[in-house]
Amino acid sequence: MSKKIDAGENLSDADLLKLEAQYCSWGDTVHYAKELNIFTHCNGSYLYDKNETPFLDLQMWYSAATFGYNHPRLKAALDKQVATLPQLACQYLHKEKILLSAMIARDVEKKFQAKGRVHFNVGGASAIEDAIKVVRNHTKKNPVFAFMGSYHGRTLGATAITSSYRYRERFGHFADRANFVPYPYCFRCPLGKKKESCGFECIKQFERLFESEYYSLVNTKTRQCEYGAFFVEPLQATGGYIIPPKGYFVELKKILDRYKILLVDDEIQMGFFRTGKLWAIEHYGVTPDIMVFGKALTNGLNAISAIWAKEELISPEVFPPGSTHATFSSNPLGTATGLEVMKLIADSDFEKTVPQKGAYFVARLKELQKKYPHIGEVDGLGLALRIEICRNDGFTPNRELTDAIMNIGLSGQLTSGGKKHGLVLDVGGYYKNVFTLAPSLYITEAEIDLGVDLFEQALKKGIAETGS
Ligand SMILES: Cc1ncc(COP(=O)(O)O)c(C=O)c1O
Repeated sequence: MSKKIDAGENLSDADLLKLEAQYCSWGDTVHYAKELNIFTHCNGSYLYDKNETPFLDLQMWYSAATFGYNHPRLKAALDKQVATLPQLACQYLHKEKILLSAMIARDVEKKFQAKGRVHFNVGGASAIEDAIKVVRNHTKKNPVFAFMGSYHGRTLGATAITSSYRYRERFGHFADRANFVPYPYCFRCPLGKKKESCGFECIKQFERLFESEYYSLVNTKTRQCEYGAFFVEPLQATGGYIIPPKGYFVELKKILDRYKILLVDDEIQMGFFRTGKLWAIEHYGVTPDIMVFGKALTNGLNAISAIWAKEELISPEVFPPGSTHATFSSNPLGTATGLEVMKLIADSDFEKTVPQKGAYFVARLKELQKKYPHIGEVDGLGLALRIEICRNDGFTPNRELTDAIMNIGLSGQLTSGGKKHGLVLDVGGYYKNVFTLAPSLYITEAEIDLGVDLFEQALKKGIAETGS
């Protein structure tokens, strides 16, 4: 066996899967799928296996590879950094870190008229931890609000503000568990209201909780709230790409301002033009106190993450050297790629192209919705799109069919032009019945058409397989 491992290139996929079953932890999310694929290369919107089967990827590494796989300009920037300064302890400075911080901070200053600074870390959840530190340091309060349906990562701190108890259940007591507030999931309004006529009843209910000390949030005499911050996703990502109604965040922010509750905007999945703007929160006309981002910051190459915080929260006087640190945080391969991402954005026209492509994709999916009652809702903001899969009443969540479609896509047995194709989809949502589509921002209309065609094939097969 050891000889075989040494000569790994000769192993069949079946041999590799046997090794995986024995030696890889199953504690990650690989085994959510029935089909286990071993991919060998990637380009643009496609992943390939060793048989060269193209798998059209409509989720792009949960939006990390937003600018497409193997992007030549980003790859060149990374290669250049590999050839010059590939390694440097984060204790020392390099140009790309400084320029990237400045580019982001200046962008935020221009858009939100708020001065601030950038602090790097290695992954989304680690940056969330840093945001929690900044909140606690500034407010001297531990309790925070977050939304039902939220996902902020799987470190212990991030898990405490992520709504699913499933992620906490086996890992001890979470004393700092957030107070989870219902999110405006209008297709399944938790209050049973209709979007057109609700008058933001969900916000009103939240506001009522500040009226009396007996509702547990506030000392009405001092107007002091026990909670230091509200962690929000501008579009709920893992929760099912749920787009809040217009005006929601403005109303929420009014309440937060009244009680000096910081707004922490988690842009980890929705940032970098996923929604048609660099920061998704730009759609809503509110200014965050802290922003957290990662994933597409480096297009998934040599990942780094970061927070931006307002100057008064992160100035050296209040957040001095050593307040937080990780060995690989601002590593030069990551910052060089991040800097190139920001330059690429500056040279591109995503503000125009992303909404156009998103509108085309949604229109195509709505055509499909007319044919299949199993598609309960199609919605999108830019190229963050959702397809909610239901029973044929168009409303009851249908997880079985959703899983079947996902696995059919991954089987690589769909066809187009007489050639085998696969389809890569990600499932999210409160009932695990939502396809959260995050295609490459460079996806073409022809690829969107192909995606809709492959999806319809998988949907038909799935309906037959599950008897839905
Ligand atoms: C909104 C949001 N926050 C935080 C995270 C955690 O990021 P990471 O997986 O890089 O730790 C994710 C990951 O999917 C996310 O979507």
